[in-house]
Amino acid sequence: MAKLVINETNKLSTIAPEIYGHFSEHLGRCIYEGLFVGEDSDIPNVNGMRKDVVEALKEIKVPVLRWPGGCFADEYHWMDGIGKKEERKKMINTHWGGVVEDNSFGTHEYMELCSQLGCKTYVNGNLGSGTVREMSEWVEYMTFDGVSPMADLRTANGHREPWKLDYFAVGNENWGCGGNMRAEYYGNEYRRYQTYIRQFQKDHTVQKIACGPNTDDYDWTDEVLDTCFDHAQPQMHGFMDLLSMHYYVFPDGWDNKGSSTEYDERLWYLTMNKAYYMDELIRRHSGVMDKYDPKKQIGLAVDEWGCWYEVEPGTNPGFLYQQSTMRDALVAGATLDIFNKHADRVKMACIAQTINVLQAVILTDGEKMIKTPTYDVFHMYRYHQGASLLESAVTGSRDIGPEDSKVPQITESVSEKDGVITVTVNNLSMTEGAEFSLSFSEDKTYEVVEARILVSGDVHDHNTFDAPDVVREKDYDGYKAEGKGFVLELPAASVVMMRFR
Ligand code: AHR
Repeated sequence: MAKLVINETNKLSTIAPEIYGHFSEHLGRCIYEGLFVGEDSDIPNVNGMRKDVVEALKEIKVPVLRWPGGCFADEYHWMDGIGKKEERKKMINTHWGGVVEDNSFGTHEYMELCSQLGCKTYVNGNLGSGTVREMSEWVEYMTFDGVSPMADLRTANGHREPWKLDYFAVGNENWGCGGNMRAEYYGNEYRRYQTYIRQFQKDHTVQKIACGPNTDDYDWTDEVLDTCFDHAQPQMHGFMDLLSMHYYVFPDGWDNKGSSTEYDERLWYLTMNKAYYMDELIRRHSGVMDKYDPKKQIGLAVDEWGCWYEVEPGTNPGFLYQQSTMRDALVAGATLDIFNKHADRVKMACIAQTINVLQAVILTDGEKMIKTPTYDVFHMYRYHQGASLLESAVTGSRDIGPEDSKVPQITESVSEKDGVITVTVNNLSMTEGAEFSLSFSEDKTYEVVEARILVSGDVHDHNTFDAPDVVREKDYDGYKAEGKGFVLELPAASVVMMRFR
C-alpha cells in the first residue's frame, strides 16, 4: 500500500496566501458583467460590483487580485479610466475581440472592488506602449498622501485618501504582446522604469514585479536577472521583489486546444502531465534564480496559470470563455499542491482568470452565476493560506498514464496553522481508485476535525446554469483510523482535504 508520511515536527516555509491569488483582465466578460455591472444595473450590486460574485469570492478568501491585464495592460492608459464616466475615452480592445472598451472600470473601481473583497492590490503597469512618466504618475495617483499634482487629481475625482498598492508590475509578457522585447533590452527597461516607482508611504511598501519567462524560457530568466543584478546585488531587496512566470496547459498543443468538456483518456493524461510540468518549471527557474539570489529574496509569481481550451461553441473567440470540469479541478488541486511544496520560492500565483475567462472559478450569464469545480478546490485549499508547509512525502505510489504522458497518481501537500494540520490529496487517475496509509511522526493520536471530497459520477461532469450543483464538494468518509494513523481510500479523479488536530 502507498504511504503518505508527514513529519509535523519539520516546519518548512510559510505558504504565502497570495499563492491562492486571481487574475482579472479587461477580456471578454471577466470585468464587465463578471465583476462589474455598474451602479444602474438590475443585477444586485454595491457601487457597481456584483454582490453574488463578491460574496462567492470572499468565501474562497481571494488574497490578491491582479489587474488590468495581461496583454491589455501594455495598451492601457490609466488616465483614460478616471474622472467622470461619460467623459472617459473609449478605445478598441485590440487583443480581445476588438470590442469597444468604455473605460467605465478604472483605477477607482478596481480599488473599490479590492476593498469589497478585502484582498491585496496588484496593478500591472504599461511598459510596452506607455512612458516612464505615465507609470510613475499612476503610482503617485494611487499612493501619494499630501499635495502633489496626482494626489490633487485623485482628490478632485472623489478620493482624498491614498490607497494601499501592494504590488506593481513593470509590464506584462514583454517578450510577446508587451512589446516583443529581447531579455537584455527588457532588463534595461526594467532598471529604468522601476526607478520611478516611488515608495510614497512610510508604513507600506509597493512590491515591484518584473516580467519573467514564458514557460520554459530559462534564458529569459537568466538574462533579465543578469542585466538587472550585475551591479545591483546589494540593493536587490526593493529593486525587484518578484519575477513573474506564465504557464498555461494546452492539452494537445496551442494549435489543437480541444474541447473543455469532451476528452478521452489520452487527453486526460496529457492534461495531467502538462499540469504536473509546473513542478519542473518552478524547480528549474528557481535554480536559475539561485545563481543571483541564493537566499531566495526574489519570489516567483506564477501570475498566469490554468487550462486553455477552445472557446465554448457559438461564443466570441476573442473572449476565451470555456467550461470547467472535474479535469480542471484535478489540474487546480495538483498545481496548488506544487505551489505549496515550493513555498520557499513561489510567493504568488494567480489563476487565469477569475470570471468567465479560461479556467474561471465563476461563470455568469446575465444575472445568473455558477461556481465551477475549480472554485471548490480553492475553497477546500483555503486553509493552506499563510500556514507552515510541513515536510511530507508519498512512497510506494505509482506513475500512471500512457508512456508519453506519465504522471504520479497521488499529489499532496500538508500544512499547519494554529495547531491544525491540513492535508490535501489528489488522485489523478481517470479510472482507478487509490488506497494509502497516512501517518504522522509524533507519538500522538490525531482526531479528524474536517474531511471533504470533490468527486463526481463522471469525470466530464461540470456545472451549468440549468444544473449548477452537479459537482460540489461534500463530506468525506472514505477514511478509517488505523493505529496512530489513518487509511484513506480515494475514488478515481478526486480531490480530498482533511484536517487533523
Ligand atoms: O490570460 C490571457 C492572456 O494570456 C493574457 O492576456 C496574456 O498575458 C497571456 O498570454
